[in-house]
Amino acid sequence: MNKELIKVEMLRKYYHSSKGLLKAVDSVSFKIYRGETFGLVGESGCGKSTLIRTVLRLLKPSDGKIVFDGIDITHLHEKELKSFRKRMGIVFQDPHSSLNPRMTVFDILSRPLKIHKLAKKHDELMLKIVEILKLMGLQAEHMIRFPHELSGGQKQRVAIARALMVEPEILFLDEPTSALDVSVQAKILKLLDSVKKQKNLTYFYISHDINLIRVVSDRIAVMYLGKIVEIGDKETIFHKPLHPYTNGLFKSVPVPDPDVKIDKVPLEGEVPSPVNPPEGCRFHPRCEFAKDICIKEEPVLKEMEDGRMVACHLYQ
Ligand SMILES: Nc1ncnc2c1ncn2[C@@H]1O[C@H](COP(=O)(O)OP(=O)(O)OP(=O)(O)O)[C@@H](O)[C@H]1O
Ligand SMILES: [Mg+2]
Repeated sequence: MNKELIKVEMLRKYYHSSKGLLKAVDSVSFKIYRGETFGLVGESGCGKSTLIRTVLRLLKPSDGKIVFDGIDITHLHEKELKSFRKRMGIVFQDPHSSLNPRMTVFDILSRPLKIHKLAKKHDELMLKIVEILKLMGLQAEHMIRFPHELSGGQKQRVAIARALMVEPEILFLDEPTSALDVSVQAKILKLLDSVKKQKNLTYFYISHDINLIRVVSDRIAVMYLGKIVEIGDKETIFHKPLHPYTNGLFKSVPVPDPDVKIDKVPLEGEVPSPVNPPEGCRFHPRCEFAKDICIKEEPVLKEMEDGRMVACHLYQ
């Protein structure tokens, strides 16, 4: 069995916008290992959703490579992709818009089974749907309901169930709790955690919320303006952030260990546009450590002694 479930190399996704070429994801590389929760954190608009959708091949990559379980899926056609799609599930941010309002929960959950020819007969579908609803903490009677008859939390449970119907190996979770009330968020997080253990899943979890990413992840990648600037184990990254952006991102988060002292530098200035992003290091206009080289040369993601990766001229 391949330990590396996903390998992404120099992936790019550019959009043609009215202002010019928008570099939403720009030369991003990382690996996701089987069984882990890989968390990706970054401010709104940094390219998290674009990255996840490109890795899933819901968007066409502009350049780079996506390898799933040892197979290059970057250029596969829709037909060839079908068997890989079955192995990768996605849960979107907003369950209010991701569920078809005209379909009952039964129809929503049957659809993936029919598409992948995993069950056809009504009895078979019923059995699988009752089982998954139970796992999601819902009742069998919920299957006859329409999305508008459910609460936000119940809708997200249905969306998670839909992603799990075809028994994927990895779930891509695009801010799965950010549209929900705080009390409901905790319950959904608990559900995702127990489902992961029961089904031996791998998670790729993205959020703008560093506290949340810290709770759910084993390893964390930090994204800034289309680039990954740091990757490492969550505790290492949290206690000893190396990149000045990571450091700034954590500034408002209390450090639980009073012996750990980090000079937290607040982030100043606005995030620049991904159309014509700054030359050199994209973070240099906001970085208090910026040197001449940072304005001229783009830093590469380099492996450090403790196994973490960082893209910053302070460490090249
Ligand atoms: N279909 C599109 N066409 C043109 N530009 C787009 C498109 N989708 C996203 N963008 C732009 O790409 C950049 C990255 O957007 P993306 O939605 O991937 O960011 P994000 O990190 O998921 O943000 P958020 O936290 O708000 O969800 C943004 O500048 C956005 O405006
Ligand atoms: Mg997003």
